[in-house]
Amino acid sequence: MPADGSSKTKASPKGDVAAGLSKLLADGYAAYLKTHGYHWNVRGPNFSGLHALFMAQYTEQWAALDVIAERLRALGELAPQGYSAFANLSSIRDGDPTQDWKGMVADLIDGHETVAKTAAGLVEAAEAAGDAPTADLATQRQAAHEKHAWMLRALADT
Ligand SMILES: [Fe+2]
Repeated sequence: MPADGSSKTKASPKGDVAAGLSKLLADGYAAYLKTHGYHWNVRGPNFSGLHALFMAQYTEQWAALDVIAERLRALGELAPQGYSAFANLSSIRDGDPTQDWKGMVADLIDGHETVAKTAAGLVEAAEAAGDAPTADLATQRQAAHEKHAWMLRALADT
């Protein structure tokens, strides 16, 4: 297995789909973990609203991780697991609990935009491979992360 945790290299349309799913899982996990951490550490005048929104968003993201990983398994691939495998696959950095709520919201928006971009790339790869179920899954993840980013932008637009 390559160092990035994927079980195959990008050598074919199917390999592109597997690599894209692995990256979407890693990016999605990083965004989930950061959202949950900010749920714990957020501080400020709108604590209740931010704490609750972050919980709704990490809950949605957590459920999606299982769907992405199990799509990899349905395609006969192993799902990457563990912090080092995810860190090798994702460019989304860890959250910083010391920053203020505006910094946290901006950081989360940036993360969602990254995951949405990864999902969009997977839609193209899956369509090229004739893999409609993966294209559908990736489309749903793109939409979900774009919605999360919109809600965060609306909340921060005070
Ligand atoms: Fe909680």
